[in-house]
Order: sequence, then structure tokens, then C-alpha cells
Amino acid sequence: MAKCRVYVKELEKKLGRRPTFFTQTFGCQMNAKDSEKLAGILEKIGYVQVEGEEADFVVYNTCTVRENANTRVYGRLGYLNSLKRKNPNMMIALCGCMMQENAVVEKIKKSYRFVDMIFGTHNIFKLAELMDTRLSSKTMIIDIWKDTSLIVEDLPSERKYRFKAGVNIMYGCNNFCSYCIVPYVRGRERSRNPEDIVKEVEELVADGVVEIMLLGQNVNSYGKSLKEPLSFAALLSRLEQIEGLKRIRFMTSHPKDLSDELIEVMRTSGKICRHLHLPVQSGSTRILKKMNRNYTREDYLKLAEKIRTAMPDISLTTDIIIGFPGETEEDFLETLEVVKKVRYDSAYTFLYSKRSGTPAAVMEGQVEEAVAKERFDRLLKTVQGIAGEMTGRMEGMEEEVLVEEKNSQNPSLLTGRLSNNSLVHFKGSEDLIGKLVRVKLSECRGFYYFGELAKN
Ligand code: 5AD
Ligand code: SF4
Repeated sequence: MAKCRVYVKELEKKLGRRPTFFTQTFGCQMNAKDSEKLAGILEKIGYVQVEGEEADFVVYNTCTVRENANTRVYGRLGYLNSLKRKNPNMMIALCGCMMQENAVVEKIKKSYRFVDMIFGTHNIFKLAELMDTRLSSKTMIIDIWKDTSLIVEDLPSERKYRFKAGVNIMYGCNNFCSYCIVPYVRGRERSRNPEDIVKEVEELVADGVVEIMLLGQNVNSYGKSLKEPLSFAALLSRLEQIEGLKRIRFMTSHPKDLSDELIEVMRTSGKICRHLHLPVQSGSTRILKKMNRNYTREDYLKLAEKIRTAMPDISLTTDIIIGFPGETEEDFLETLEVVKKVRYDSAYTFLYSKRSGTPAAVMEGQVEEAVAKERFDRLLKTVQGIAGEMTGRMEGMEEEVLVEEKNSQNPSLLTGRLSNNSLVHFKGSEDLIGKLVRVKLSECRGFYYFGELAKN
């Protein structure tokens, strides 16, 4: 890191200004968190963060969960090349899930030779070292680890918001859902020690954070691989005790591992938010089996019912894949029915995307694109209709809101989030940002509310 600092200082003298960096995150919250760590390292080296690619160091933190994520990165690389021609000091780094695929690395080596360094999901902490190697070698640096059991603690991290933060509790995934590339690019499941998590959250709270989002591909299996196993519910109970911490969120929950203990901890908690993201993927037991999800349609419906009975005000959200190999109209109708029964507050809907190397990629009965699209549109209509009705159920109530930012379209408004993750816009002064306030949810407009600060 010291050598990189010297380089950045010299670059500053040459340019007559502070050298800049830009990180672009593709994909999920895990990647967003990794980008904050990368930003933390780059700030330590001496770069200042800017928005947009016209910077001296650009990092693309890539996603590969669906094919179109890869296509977007290739598209943006052409643009980066044109910028680099204008700014020869520019360094370009590619990292993240897409880089864990051999075919991608080969393609970049061949067709995108202006890229300075490529690394994967397991070694982002090495950014400064890789940069140093690049400065002395003048060739593209490629450092991809296949898997790791390593968890690196105490990396600097540059938070996007001062009052909320993501906290990794585990890395990787062991589930091998048959469509999913994540277990191949993020490696085996490994949990952080609870002491390290508690320490990180305590430090965040001391630094002004009031809301944390615990991150893992399958948080419900947290702790199973620890020397002294500890359940996710028990971890939540420990975090709940941290004074000054106001809200706890987490994602993602796999339905097969969601315990009664967790439901009970959530129900009795004053801090765990009333929101559960519970990906169903399909409503057909036949398809769920082929997806290797390890639950049936009935298991899922029973679980959703149990959660709603324990916490009637909870918001349930989900992920659904349409057009999985072998999906028939009947399977699709079963999915639609689950949507109608569970009544999600929102659902992320995806067209199945074939990822080579996964078992589903070679399954028979790949669904024609036009058929899948038509089902997708029908699903979306149902999802949106229900989501609109569900959001509106709190109209007229007064709720606690964490104020997040000035409204981007109307600067006289603030935007905040309810415990159940719904958005609310209301009039108020900027100094409320980062605070919890009570807001009357006067009017629901589709998927969000307009409100008024409560008088107290
Ligand atoms: N095709 C479409 N959607 C996928 N997802 C994961 N893999 C694929 C794929 N191959 C979706 C799942 C998951 C979400 C993060 O992405 O719904 O829950
Ligand atoms: Fe992918 Fe399934 Fe793991 Fe989620 S649980 S990351 S969908 S393999």
C-alpha cells in the first residue's frame, strides 16, 4: 500500500490535482459491499471518489448471475477504452463474479487488452498489491482464486451512507440450486465469527450507523460451519443488544433453512425490521425439485402462513424465475397461484438465463423465449397488482421512518424507509437525514407513500 501511495502522490504532482477513482457495482448487495471495501482501499492509497468513468482509476465490480449482466459489462468496456485513450494515466480494474469464469478472462485477455488488472471475488483485499505489481510489470495482471476458506477482517470500507451499512456475516453458498452460478463463483459457505461481527457492528454504531443489513447468500444457514456453531437467530439476538443500533435487516433467506427460532426472535424483536425476502423461485413442486431447492410448494405456503400469523404486519418479498427448463403452462399457473396466495409486497421476476456449467444448462425442455416472455408479462401484471394493494395497506397510519436522502426529483421532499422497506416521501429539512422520525402515511401512490412529519 505504501508504494501505491507514493505513486498516487507523484501522479497528483503531475496532474496538478488529486487523482480520482470510480467504482461501478453490477449485481447484488454483496457486490455493493465489496465495492465499499475497494473504495476504502483506494481512498487509503490517496485517490478521491468521483461519480462517472472519467476518473484515473475505474473499477467494475461485475455480476454473472444472468447473461445480460455480462453483456452490460462488455458494452461498457468499449466506452472505457475511449476514455483511456484520452487519459493514459487511467487504470482499469475488473473484479467480481464474472471474473471467476475462465471463458470471461480469456475473452478479456484477447479482446480487451487495455484492461490493467483482473481479480475475482476471493481476493479484493489484494487490490493495492495488484496495483503495485501492475505498475512495475506493464502487462495485464490476472489474479483469480478458485475458492478460499480465508476471511479477511478489518478492511477499510468507504460507506455510501453514514447512517446505514451492510455487514457480511457469511460468504459463499453450498446450495447449488441447479440454475445458479453463485456457488461456482463465490465458493463454499463460510461464516464469520460472531465476535468479529459484533465488533464491526459496535464500531459502525459508534460511527453513527443506526441501521445494518446483514448480508449472506443464505443467512439462515449462518454459523453451521463455525467451530462453535451458533444459529442465525442467536446471532440476531446478540446484535439486538447493541445499544444505539436501531434497525436490523438481513438478506437473503432460503426457505428450506428458515427456523421457528428465527420467526420467534423476529416476532419479539424491537429492532429487526418487518421485512423478509424469501425467494420462492417457482410455485411448482416439480420445478422446485429440478431446481434443487429442497422444499415443496406446500412447504413454502405453510412457511409463509406461519410467518404471517406470527407477524401480520410483515412485508414479504420474493424472487421468481420464469422459463426454467421443463416449465409447462401448468407449472407456471402454480407459480401465479402462489403469488396470489402469499400476496407479496414486491417480487423480483427473472427470465431464466442459461449459465454454462450449471446442471440446468443441459436439462431437456429449454423453454422458448417467446413463451417465457409471455408468461413473464402475465406474472408481472399479477405481481404489480398485488404489490400495489399490499403497499397501500398502511395508508393513514403513523410509522417510524429512517430518513435516507433528499428526494432526487423534488428537493423540498425527503425520502425515507419504513421498517417494512416501503418508501415514503415527505416535506422536511435536510438535517433529518439519518434520523428516525415519525411520519403519517397520508397517501399511497402505487408503490410508495406521500406523508407528513408527525407533530410531537
Ligand atoms: N436465471 C435467472 N435468474 C436467476 N437467478 C439466479 N440464477 C438465475 C438464472 N440462471 C435469480 C434467482 C435469485 C436471484 C438473485 O437471481 O431468482 O434468487
Ligand atoms: Fe444461488 Fe441457490 Fe445459493 Fe441462492 S441459494 S446463491 S439461488 S445456489
